[in-house]
Amino acid sequence: MNHIIHITGNIVIYTSLAGIVLLFLECIWYAFPRKVKNTCPSKRIALITGASGGLGRQYAFLADRKLKDIDEIWLVGRRISRLNETAGLLTHPAKCLQMDLTETAEISGLKAVFAEGNISVRCLINCAGFGTVGSSSDISIYTQAKMINLNCIAPAALANVCIPFMHPGSLLVNICSTAGFQPLQYLNTYASSKTFLLRYTRALRRELLPKQIRVSAVCPYWIKDTGFIAAATAGGESGIKDFPLSSNVKSVSRFSFFWMKIGLPVITPGIICSLHRMFSKLIPDTVLVYIWDVIRHI
Ligand SMILES: NC(=O)c1ccc[n+]([C@@H]2O[C@H](COP(=O)([O-])OP(=O)(O)OC[C@H]3O[C@@H](n4cnc5c(N)ncnc54)[C@H](OP(=O)(O)O)[C@@H]3O)[C@@H](O)[C@H]2O)c1
Repeated sequence: MNHIIHITGNIVIYTSLAGIVLLFLECIWYAFPRKVKNTCPSKRIALITGASGGLGRQYAFLADRKLKDIDEIWLVGRRISRLNETAGLLTHPAKCLQMDLTETAEISGLKAVFAEGNISVRCLINCAGFGTVGSSSDISIYTQAKMINLNCIAPAALANVCIPFMHPGSLLVNICSTAGFQPLQYLNTYASSKTFLLRYTRALRRELLPKQIRVSAVCPYWIKDTGFIAAATAGGESGIKDFPLSSNVKSVSRFSFFWMKIGLPVITPGIICSLHRMFSKLIPDTVLVYIWDVIRHI
């Protein structure tokens, strides 16, 4: 038995060290993007979904202040008045795209817009998303399908449309959640959709590594000052009692924006989500679901 524990311990330690070295090398690779010869000057944009409120709006402000290589910021959401409001607070010229991202056809239409405008996508932040708490049998199949469409299919479709217009040094960021680290009863479809997005983002990162496109997944814990929690609990009895130790949108956006520029693969902006990430790797799912049972009653 001691022998098995010893071997397992060694595997964990040495593969973790290998992971740190690989991560370091990847960040160096991203830090020196190749120059691409482009005879036709293109318009460089940052495209941010969910920019009508919450986290997406903060990312729009940060992109405006901190991204030096963009000419325009494109803001996506359904509430055009809120998008215009965000646009009015930016120093860069902004374009507001009123889109329902659960309609994949609307997303694929962007390809022609990019080609016509000779667009170079320097930054894509997929932030639009929603969740619903409650039992899987109570949440309508319509709502669950919409959640999967917005949280999974839309980011994949947007990546598909944007990648051909991205170049070395471009950023592609998917806003996932700490919920994606484990199965979560009474937040099931949302947590499962974020698990998909997290896995998808990690594999996409490896695919795009040769192109020097930095791909990151951001996995925050509850954020109290966005519309998310109110919308998620609007259905009444939720099965989750409270949202203790919630973070705030400014600290989450600032911390994650810094690390996505460095090119970290998974960003956990806060202590709770960082601990959750670590423990979800160490503890089996069978045990984690019972721990969640205790936490959701606190
Ligand atoms: N807040 C949290 O506790 C928390 C924790 C972890 C992860 N997250 C993730 O963070 C991201 C941002 O959430 P948030 O906290 O900022 O929530 P929020 O304030 O509710 O913002 C959600 C954004 O998504 C957009 N959106 C919703 N449905 C859409 C649709 N069908 N088409 C296009 N846009 C749509 C909304 O814009 P319109 O209504 O104008 O369309 C809004 O701008 C989400 O992906 C969420 O899963 C949030």
